[in-house]
Amino acid sequence: CGIIGRIGSGNALDHLLTGLENLEYRGYDSAGVAVQNGAGIEIRKRSGRVSELEETIDAPEGRVGIGHTRWSTHGPPTDENAHPHTDATEDVAVVHNGIVENHADLRNRLADRGHDFTSDTDTEVIPHLVQANLDAGFDNEAAFRRAVEELEGSYAVAVMIAGDHTIYAARSGSPLVVGVDDDAGEYYLASDVPAFLEYTDRVVYLEDGDVAIIGPDGADFTDLAGEPVPRTPETIDWDPEQAGKGEYDHFMLKEIYEQPTSLAQAVEGRIDDGIDLEEFPPGAFEGIDRVQFVACGTSYHAAMYGALSLTQAGVDARALLANEYGASSPPVDDRTLVVAVTQSGETADTLSALRRAVRKGARTVTVTNVVGSTAAREADDSLLIRAGPEIGVAATKTFSSQAVALTLLAGRIVEDALAGDGLSDLDSLLAAADRLPGDIERLLTESDAAEIARRYRDSRSYFFLGRGQGYPVALEGALKFKEITYEHAEGFASGELKHGPLALVTEETPVFTVFTGIEDDRTLANAEEAATRGAPVIAICPADHPAADVADAHLEIPETDPRLAGLLANVQLQLLSYHAAELLDRPIDKPRNLAKSVTVE
Ligand code: G6P
Repeated sequence: CGIIGRIGSGNALDHLLTGLENLEYRGYDSAGVAVQNGAGIEIRKRSGRVSELEETIDAPEGRVGIGHTRWSTHGPPTDENAHPHTDATEDVAVVHNGIVENHADLRNRLADRGHDFTSDTDTEVIPHLVQANLDAGFDNEAAFRRAVEELEGSYAVAVMIAGDHTIYAARSGSPLVVGVDDDAGEYYLASDVPAFLEYTDRVVYLEDGDVAIIGPDGADFTDLAGEPVPRTPETIDWDPEQAGKGEYDHFMLKEIYEQPTSLAQAVEGRIDDGIDLEEFPPGAFEGIDRVQFVACGTSYHAAMYGALSLTQAGVDARALLANEYGASSPPVDDRTLVVAVTQSGETADTLSALRRAVRKGARTVTVTNVVGSTAAREADDSLLIRAGPEIGVAATKTFSSQAVALTLLAGRIVEDALAGDGLSDLDSLLAAADRLPGDIERLLTESDAAEIARRYRDSRSYFFLGRGQGYPVALEGALKFKEITYEHAEGFASGELKHGPLALVTEETPVFTVFTGIEDDRTLANAEEAATRGAPVIAICPADHPAADVADAHLEIPETDPRLAGLLANVQLQLLSYHAAELLDRPIDKPRNLAKSVTVE
């Protein structure tokens, strides 16, 4: 989601709408603005893109305003769920990014005190909290601070209160920047710099725990308790054209680097003492004795990844290519759970498999990145991966978010299907899921993938091997490589190499081998079979792994639970493909012949 705010002379509306358009890469399923004038706060909001908002609204006047473009995580993209949200009196307007984890508790408490809610969003508790504090006699600033103190989870939040030409903002876990143009007396607030870069290039990046109070004379920065914090503007030297990509040359690279955040969002609020999925409480999968995942492309690899957690725990599960589902006609009955895995929720092949499952009486779930998508609407239930919009055609951050969300979903299914018995070593898995954002952050900083891409740039073919969860990662590594480099790449189950593909192996076929901690000695033996035929072996494994010594080269991943190690290896392989494609000067974000979402069968 994207936030914008603006204070200055003249009408704020044009600046707000421009800001929202520049932020659409962060979300585009609904949009809204609130402006402040003598008559109070005026709000215009609706589902759809910013251009639709722009075309349909009259132009409310006011010098101060806030706006939002949304990527839904709680509640479908309806007019009611669009931001800004208000309290009942419409005296407090709020835009928010992130997730208020304790929204249900806060909502119940406020409802007990007579507050009525009009949306399904977690955000709506915030204006009600501020209003309750105002009713209790606190001044505007104190009412804001006390409300923010109650929020658990991650947020970037901006609040306007009727009659007060101030924007109150706070950040914890979701980005916020303040734009400063002292000469013109104009100040901006946004989730990201591109929102206002055409108006000013002087910015202050807020840190977690910061509060910014922005008025007609500038911004004050404090911590939540009100103690001043030193924040000085810096000058950005970006070209506004490039700005959506920020400091990155391509959306794909930006999206690879977003994974610490997107993965934190994927697990946020979903891990407590055990796996805690709001959408699927204990018992939700009672009576299910067979699980089929249907998906295409990268989502199919994520589906294979998810299915493994089920089979490893003893549940009958398989991943099927959605476009083969009809032809293979697997058995389906009312004890079958069919899980459609689709980033966009619009892939025709996947919708067709989902519809077939519905016709056959299966219970259905969609795992998607897009609330309100066709697949989400047609399945009985859905689970959001919360990765945020992905612009690069080659899927990156959505694969890792799908894989982790599916691993958690699998854990919940196992508990019900096996009547109480959960995943083995659940604590280890959950601790690893918790560490995932930090592990990826470290991996991204230390990766040697660019150097490895250079070293093997003149090869004839690129092979990828893996076993267990490493197998779908090998397939995904090869798919990414061929999609964006146009070079020949293949993924194999490591044990399968010797049953045919070994005939292709020469010193010109580097073999990238993923080690996850599941039967690694066998995988190493398979890699050595390739090495004996002269192939360079590149091991993707932790630093002190035996494969690291034997291999010709090494891409390091942090030590973690075997069920999540593949995700880390996949990030190294994403970087490898990216750098290889860059050396070949390929159009990385838009590979030839491919589309982000294929809506024909
Ligand atoms: C297209 C894209 C792939 C994607 C596949 C499935 O082919 O190019 O990157 O994996 O569709 O998309 P979905 O939205 O269903 O995950």
